[in-house]
Amino acid sequence: MKILAIESSCDETAAAVVQFDENADNIEILSNVVVSQIDIFAVYGGVIPEVAARSHLEVILPVIHKALDDAGVTKDEIDAIAVTHTPGLVGSLMVGTLTARMLAILWQKPLYAVHHLKSHIYANWLGPEHSLEVKSPQFPLLALVISGGHTQIIRMEAHNQFEIVGTTRDDAVGECFDKVAKILGLPYPGGPAIAKCAENGNADMYKLPHPKLPGLDFSFSGLKTAVLRAVQAELKLPISTPSYELKDKLTEQQRADFAASFQKTACEIMLEKLKMAFEEFPDTKSVVFAGGVSANGLLRKMALEAAQKPLAQAESQKCYDVACFAENGLGGLLRGASEGFLGSDVDVYFPEPKYAGDNAAMVGAAACFEIKTGAEPTDPYKLSIAPRRKIN
Ligand code: KG4
Ligand code: ZN
Repeated sequence: MKILAIESSCDETAAAVVQFDENADNIEILSNVVVSQIDIFAVYGGVIPEVAARSHLEVILPVIHKALDDAGVTKDEIDAIAVTHTPGLVGSLMVGTLTARMLAILWQKPLYAVHHLKSHIYANWLGPEHSLEVKSPQFPLLALVISGGHTQIIRMEAHNQFEIVGTTRDDAVGECFDKVAKILGLPYPGGPAIAKCAENGNADMYKLPHPKLPGLDFSFSGLKTAVLRAVQAELKLPISTPSYELKDKLTEQQRADFAASFQKTACEIMLEKLKMAFEEFPDTKSVVFAGGVSANGLLRKMALEAAQKPLAQAESQKCYDVACFAENGLGGLLRGASEGFLGSDVDVYFPEPKYAGDNAAMVGAAACFEIKTGAEPTDPYKLSIAPRRKIN
């Protein structure tokens, strides 16, 4: 079956055509088109919802045409349409869902409404290397969903079953990367900028606190404030100094040291909670990373180290596949990674970096497994958006 998938929940306009082989659970990506608004929002230092919606409107139809062209298929060969309808920015979601509804009505195709975080998780079922030698994540699994808007640990006992076992009480970790980048004078989006800047920094230069939150919940607002205070202290300025005045006073080395120290602390916090979750659910067979922050090279490296496999050893034993490399160092698709993530028998999965951020191929992947597990199509005349809705 061929699915046309559409994603527009934030500042990427994306469409993809995926082909699903239900018997083999194999998803082939026939096309994957992403138009990013990053260049527009780099100027403002963050997303402006109204501008995002207008930009989606300008490009969504050309993006869909290109996805069909690249896949070499016509509308008649499409079996179903899938679209992100929650969560996200109101105007952005409206453009994607209204377009999908219109096409479903005009072309008389079944329409599937997909949750954005499901899509991020199902990015781990994507990739050209997702072939016979590389097995899919096994259930029960724990997914660490780390994006600009969400930070959650989700347990899945089977396809399309989601239980949130931990969530952030305040900022998402991606938001924290973006806010710290702003304090340091690095561009939007902050994650890749911090990763790049950190390459020249000493990650042990500044000691930053780990939140003392019981259970599996996260908190990242304290870490952001801790960076702010540490920068003020380093520059010998009072805590009343506005954050926007700090960036010009930092030397390049200080900026790099702060970026590296922050990045390391954020990764440690994520992996500590994952370890706790793993201890709470010892029957876990796979750990899956999902969302924009999962592109982070240091996180990938530290996760492998937590898997008690030094990188070189893992490489020489070919117990994971590096399909391509992220810009910021170690990256790529790490699948079926090792014996013993965090000291036990579990496989570690990262999406290929190009599928870690927002894209429509992952929406198609999530829809494939919704359809396989019996989800009914939605009424294209009635589908509404939900800016905030939990995954389950
Ligand atoms: O999943 P995503 O593309 O969009 C949302 O659903 O929010 O995630 C975007 C977030 C941004 O906060 C961005 O700074 C972060 O992912 N990000 C990264 C990296 N690449 C993107 N964070 C850390 N390291 C990266 N390499
Ligand atoms: Zn996302």
